[in-house]
Amino acid sequence: MAGILITMEGPDGSGKTTQISLLAKVLTSEGREVVQTREPGGTPLADRIRVLVLDPAHDKMTARTEALLYMAARAQHTAELIRPAMERGAVVISDRYADSTLVYQGVARGLPLDSLIWLNRFATEELTPDLTLLLDGDTDCLAQRVTSRGNKDRLDNEDPEFHRKVREGFLLLAAQNPERFRVIDADRTVESIQLDIQRCVQEFLQKRGR
Ligand code: TYD
Repeated sequence: MAGILITMEGPDGSGKTTQISLLAKVLTSEGREVVQTREPGGTPLADRIRVLVLDPAHDKMTARTEALLYMAARAQHTAELIRPAMERGAVVISDRYADSTLVYQGVARGLPLDSLIWLNRFATEELTPDLTLLLDGDTDCLAQRVTSRGNKDRLDNEDPEFHRKVREGFLLLAAQNPERFRVIDADRTVESIQLDIQRCVQEFLQKRGR
């Protein structure tokens, strides 16, 4: 495909959204078409699934139900938004994607990874990100950021052990896929994190001859 899919991953509160907006501005100023999106969400149907899956009222939701809802949202997001944008040649930047399910529902909730890998392939029709930026930081600091943010969703209410597993899960995935992942130290100022991100992305685009 002509376009590029960049995903931003990391624990809750790692500052992904801010960093994506800054990166999108820079890439747009270079004359590229940039599509900024997020998971769960990105289309009207996927946004409705987002509301369902993150609603703290659904405290009886099983891990399997949760995984399938994220997958359903991802299938729609990929088919309706991501693939068409990539076919046009856009740079798509998604705040979370398939790796989040492997880490949150797989490593942290304990669902079998092989099933989740299969379901991700099914949902995305085998689409894999070209580049994944992992914002990695101390989970206790990140948890504080989430608390100070006020309106917590269902997963923000998980205990510190859950968030530690999430961090470890992401680092494990990064170690297993070094060609796709770049680990960025998120315990720094917004500006220095952004500089690192821009360096990784420019290096990647150059390698791709873009
Ligand atoms: P997000 O909006 O990125 O929240 P935050 O800004 O707090 O990082 O993601 C919502 C939550 O959904 C987040 O706690 C991670 C979780 N999540 C999963 O558990 N599995 C998934 O596949 C995805 C995409 C998100």
